[in-house]
Amino acid sequence: SFEEYKNSYKQSVNDPEGFWSDIASTFQWKKKWDHVLQGDFKQPQVKWFVNGKLNITENCLDRHLEKRSKQTAIIWEPNHPRDQPIHLTYAELHEKVCKYANVLKENGAKKGDRICIYMPMIPEITIAVLACARIGAIHSVVFAGFSAQAIADRINDASCSMVITTDGMYRGPKKLPVKDTIDSALETCHSVKKVLVVQRTAHPIKMEEGRDVWVHEEIEKVTSDCPAEEMDAEDMLFILYTSGSTGKPKGVVHTCGGYMVYAEYSFRNVFQYEDRDVYWCSADVGWITGHTYLIYGPLLSGATTLMFEGVPTYPDAGRFWKVVDKHQVNIFYTAPTAIRSLMASDLSFVRNYKLNSLKVLGTVGEPINEEAWYWYFEHIGKKKCPIVDTWWQTETGGAMISPLANITENKPTFATYPLPGIQPVLLDKNGDEIKENEKEGYLCIKFPWPSMIRTTYGDHERCRKTYFSSYKGYYFTGDGAKRDRDGMYRIIGRIDDVINVSGHRFGTAEIENAIDEHPEIIESAVVGYPHEIKGQGIYAYVICGDHVPEDRGRIREEIIAMVDEQIGKIARPEKIQFVENLPKTRSGKIMRRILRKVAEGNTSNLGDTTTLLEPKVVEDIIQGAVKLESAV
Ligand code: PRX
Repeated sequence: SFEEYKNSYKQSVNDPEGFWSDIASTFQWKKKWDHVLQGDFKQPQVKWFVNGKLNITENCLDRHLEKRSKQTAIIWEPNHPRDQPIHLTYAELHEKVCKYANVLKENGAKKGDRICIYMPMIPEITIAVLACARIGAIHSVVFAGFSAQAIADRINDASCSMVITTDGMYRGPKKLPVKDTIDSALETCHSVKKVLVVQRTAHPIKMEEGRDVWVHEEIEKVTSDCPAEEMDAEDMLFILYTSGSTGKPKGVVHTCGGYMVYAEYSFRNVFQYEDRDVYWCSADVGWITGHTYLIYGPLLSGATTLMFEGVPTYPDAGRFWKVVDKHQVNIFYTAPTAIRSLMASDLSFVRNYKLNSLKVLGTVGEPINEEAWYWYFEHIGKKKCPIVDTWWQTETGGAMISPLANITENKPTFATYPLPGIQPVLLDKNGDEIKENEKEGYLCIKFPWPSMIRTTYGDHERCRKTYFSSYKGYYFTGDGAKRDRDGMYRIIGRIDDVINVSGHRFGTAEIENAIDEHPEIIESAVVGYPHEIKGQGIYAYVICGDHVPEDRGRIREEIIAMVDEQIGKIARPEKIQFVENLPKTRSGKIMRRILRKVAEGNTSNLGDTTTLLEPKVVEDIIQGAVKLESAV
């Protein structure tokens, strides 16, 4: 009940160590911790469950074997509805993870090594992740939509010694290469000694002698006996790269103990998972949502987790709902962008299905607009399923502000209340806490929580600067938020130079760097603008010399190819405007605020432009924007 939530919340603030100690005690530890929490936000150095020893896979798998060995752990729905789904029980998953772990060891992997996983959504990606954790290797999953260059950057940043990948992948009607992309990436990665290849499409690929091995052949050589490596609670579990306001993505580091405790606790409480429920998170394992709420949270809780290889619109816009009926899904967690894209199709795609197994719905990744919220509530949840709008980040490891299904209230477009153990605050621009309600401010967190970011891989100072230096003593989220009169939070969106496209984060600088590689581009400035389906779209202003070029079509295509190559198709600018100049202050700083307003089509009130070096530039840009044809 709501009362219980309030009591639990109070206890978590009054006695955080007691609170988390009770929760952590429900897990299987090889050795209990000496202290629950040490450190602070200054260094920052925060440690949870100090000197505790564990292996997260024993908690995901081994400890469930007594009661759940025959229960389905993973339901896999393939890309094409004609193909057979796969059901893996906890016993089968345990066996497969142990075998994969032995294959990793046989191929030279050991505790502490970094292993890059670049794979589509097949059960083997989950098995690969868990196999790494089993032997204490640190997984770094790279989303299978990233380009060779982006993979190479991530592999080199973490000096990965191994890559696990597939020959190819299916995505809707397309069959795409995967191994070829890895081959190009590895041309500039000298740390990688072995590439393990899982067969998916069985089309011919190049295998490099001595480096590349087929997993299905390696599996034949190993047993399923693989004791779990003993890990310290603060040993790294994984690195996951995410974009910030500088050009280079950073490797967010999560550790074994705290992440495990919070992934399970938040999963169980947010979704109110009950035994035998079928739970489906549609996120890709390449993002944090896939890590925490497709793999770790559900498996730690002994849940049945569904993974889907395909896309929501293949073969048609009813696929999600077909899968819900087919597997009798009880809890469904997706992104607002998916809801908006399905909303744009005819309602008959929904009406063909019963959807009567659904009990709880969830969203994540970006603010959900009111229209999408109501459509989801009425047409999918049939007005009987609560919607958990979960606000969190790669850096937070788990959901921080969210309704708890059927326990705390819903309010459309509001992430509502913090989970027990999470202490959000709103700060004003001087860094003072805003105590009153009905106010907006910068969203910060003022007390450590178990699954918080520990460092950015290889560069602790960057972690300190990015998250802990803007406001002393607080973790700064980069988001703005509003608190209503009941104390409920509504996330407004990023206030830094991060764009959220379909729930995926990109730094404006990262895209500008890619565009600037074009030999004819002198300078570029990228901003986000409101996009009906994607939430935000990418709008690029580019300068080619002192005039707008004639062959804009060609350059536009080349810019897009440049972005595809440097980052991936997911970061393509939707609109490209050629300009002669950018609005700059006298000190040379681009006034992005103006560019954002022009991109939004909101030019009636551009605010203060008196500090501009050349105010006429703005007029030219506004006129150019009016004429702009769409790029893609
Ligand atoms: O701006 C917030 C938005 O997504 C950002 C985090 O992105 P990422 O690390 O990729 O993680 C996404 C999945 C957890 C946040 O800073 N965001 C995430 N969830 C919500 C949200 N914005 C509004 N409402 C949400 N529920």
